[in-house]
Formats: sequence, structure tokens, C-alpha cells
Amino acid sequence: MKEKRTGFATRLGAIAATVGSAVGLGNIWRFPYQAGDNGGGAYILVYLLCVVLLGIPIMMSEFIIGRSTHKSMKGAVQELTPGSPFKIFSYVGVLGALLICGYYSVVCGWVIEYLWNSADGSLLGHTPEQYGDMFGALVGTPQRCVLWTLLFLLLNFLVLSRGIQKGVERMANIMMPLLFILLIVFCVNSLLLPGSMKGMDFLFNPKFEDLGWKGVVDAMGQAFMSLSLGVTCLITYSSYFNDDSRLMKDAVTISALDTLVAILSGIVIFPAVFSFGLEPNAGPKLIFEILPTIFQQMPGGVIWSVLFFVLLFFASITSTISLSEIPITFMIDEYKMSRVKALIITAVLMTTVAVLSALSFSTLSDVKLFGKNIFDFLDYVGPNIFMLLGGLVTAIYVGCFLKKEIIHNQLTNGGKYRSSFVQPYIIFCLRFIAPVAIIIIFLYYTGIF
Ligand code: PFF
Repeated sequence: MKEKRTGFATRLGAIAATVGSAVGLGNIWRFPYQAGDNGGGAYILVYLLCVVLLGIPIMMSEFIIGRSTHKSMKGAVQELTPGSPFKIFSYVGVLGALLICGYYSVVCGWVIEYLWNSADGSLLGHTPEQYGDMFGALVGTPQRCVLWTLLFLLLNFLVLSRGIQKGVERMANIMMPLLFILLIVFCVNSLLLPGSMKGMDFLFNPKFEDLGWKGVVDAMGQAFMSLSLGVTCLITYSSYFNDDSRLMKDAVTISALDTLVAILSGIVIFPAVFSFGLEPNAGPKLIFEILPTIFQQMPGGVIWSVLFFVLLFFASITSTISLSEIPITFMIDEYKMSRVKALIITAVLMTTVAVLSALSFSTLSDVKLFGKNIFDFLDYVGPNIFMLLGGLVTAIYVGCFLKKEIIHNQLTNGGKYRSSFVQPYIIFCLRFIAPVAIIIIFLYYTGIF
């Protein structure tokens, strides 16, 4: 049942767009700083388990909902299980996307400033301490931080309004492999630094005493963030998948690529952190302190630096495009709005959240929500509440309420392929592992854990 849609994805390779959505600042900025804050190895082990036991099955669930109906969330649920209250979760997705894109675009703004400074030659040539101060000066200056964020959002919505996502995605198709190659070069460089093995030990030698339940919940949230789960993004994207694509193969490929990019970023960052005698738990500023320090000791540092931030910019904008599409598609489907109107409303809402987040370290630094400034609060609540809640409820919905034939049909493309152990594995994870995760999260938030 294909409906005629005016959305962007009709005009681009839906699978490529999904990779574009998954790979972004979540992998390169958030993963290293979260790993650093949670003690390294044990966090990474739990993260990998989350990808295999929850991430891939939930990605499959979103794909099943989207591709079986060729509709976005609300319409899909209405078609699959008429009258089901589960459609309420489209609101969770929309709100989650607005909040996440709001603070995420602030980081994209930082990326543009670092790109600018790389290009004009002012970025390199400082000590690690000075890089810490430079980052502090950027986030502490409201005008600078807000302007870069606004510039980023302007570019994001320009792309969306011009319908040139296809072009951007195509560019990203070239940029992503380049980013991948660049990360490998940086990994080799970091591994050759004196004392680098301490960083590898931090990353890959699990010390469970450093993790705690906080680390477990953070790892789960990060896996969902990185794979773009739980906010209905992948339901919309997969509603454009063609009926021949193999969902399991795609989900595994996308998750593996995404995870590889995150791990590579860790191998770039932590050997350098230890080699330069810095602290791994520097929080959100981690990569902005370490990367320039790395670039400047590489021959041709300026070029590496410019290239890297250009590629990171592309990886980020393909993610914000997918986040912006969530409310846009929702408003078009739900309120029969024109795309232009939906786009304007989304832009206004996201910009408001983004400006508030951009001011979190300066003008609004005294505004605290649960002890965190606005930026840190959104960076916590987005992945650790909205995405986890949305993703785990999606798991229960598909695992327990969706007809087995639908799942089977989607996994085997209408009986064309065998699903062998895949279907029981997915169902097991959705029915048993997801509820366990929900219990852990519940116990953690109620303070029992
Ligand atoms: N997965 C993206 C990243 O790792 O940067 C962020 C993201 C994109 C989250 C799209 C959610 C989403 F719907």
C-alpha cells in the first residue's frame, strides 16, 4: 500500500539516508565523552551488548512498522493495530526530536566554529590547557555560541526547504567513507603516540567497579541515540524502503557501521588523552580539547583539521535533517499541513530550544533543571528518557502486539527468504530483554539501584 508522499525520502536512497541519520555527533562527540565519564572498558562492553540485544532488534521493529505500511508512525499503527493507544508514542517522538535537535545543533555550531578557526589557521599552535580555555571562551560567549548555532540551523532548514536533501545525502555518501578513512588515519596516529597503550587499556579493559547502574543506563541511552532509535525517525525512513530490501541485513550493516565509527572515535581520542596527560572525564568538551592537540602534532595539521571538521559537519547535518523530518512529517500527516507551514513551525520550535541551549553556559548558566544546565539536561533527557522510553515501548509493541505473520513477512520478504534463527532471536529480545531493560531503568530512576 503505497501512498503518494511529498516528503524528502522519495527522492533519495532510503538506506543511505538511514546511515546518514545514524552516523553523526552521537558517534564522534557523545560516545567518547560518555565512555570517558563512565570509566571506559566496562561501559563499552555494555554498550556493545545494548547494540546487539536491543539496538538491532529495535531497529528491526521500527523497520517492520515502517516498511509493512509505508506510512509514518501514527498512520502505521492505525493500520497495523486499529484503535491501539500505541500511536500516542508519535507525540513522544516529535517532542524528543525537537529537544534533541535543539541541543544537538548547538554542538553543530561548535563544529562550524572549529572548522572556521581551522581554516583561518588560528586553531592550531596551542597547549592542551589553552584548548580547554578556548572551548570555555566559545561556550561562555553568548553571541558567538548563538550565532554559530543559528547559522547551522539556517543551513539545515535551507536544505530542507529547498528539497536538496538528495544532494546533501549524495555528498554525504562520498563524505562518510572519507570520514571513515580519516578516522583510521587518526587512529594509527594516536596509537603511535608515546603512552598510547594506557588509552587502549582504558577503552578495552573492562573495570566494572567504575561503571555502576548509571553507566549501564547511560550506555543504553547512548546506543539508542547513536542508532537513532525510539523517536520514530527510522519508522519514517523505512516507510520509503523498497519491498526487496533485506531488513535484517540492513539493520545489521547500519548498526555495525555506526558502532565501528564510535569505536574508531574512541581509539582516536583516548590514546591521545593519556599520552598528553589529560583527564578522560572532561565531559562534552572532550573532543574539542583533544582533537586540536592531535592535529597540531600531525604533519600538515591544518589540512587534517579542516578536512575533519568539514566531514563532521556533513555527518552532523544528515542527522539533524532526519531529526527535523520527524515533526515535519508528523504535522503533515496529522494536521494535513502544507510542507512549508510544517517546516516553518518546526524551525521556530527547534530554534527556540537551540538558543536556550546555546545560552546554557553563559547568560542562562544559573537556570538549572534537576541540577543540570539546559544543555546538559537535554543531553541527558533526550537519549536517556525519550529515546529509551520510545524504543523500548516500540519493542514491546512489535514483540507482543503485532501479528507474527507481519513480522515473518517482513523478515522473509513475503516468504522469499528464510528467516531461520533471526525471527526467534528478534522476538526473544523484544519480549524478554526489552522488559528487563525497562525494569533496570525504572529501578535506577526510582533510586532503588
Ligand atoms: N544518531 C545520530 C547521531 O548519532 O549523531 C543522532 C540522531 C539522529 C538521533 C536522528 C535521533 C534521530 F532521530
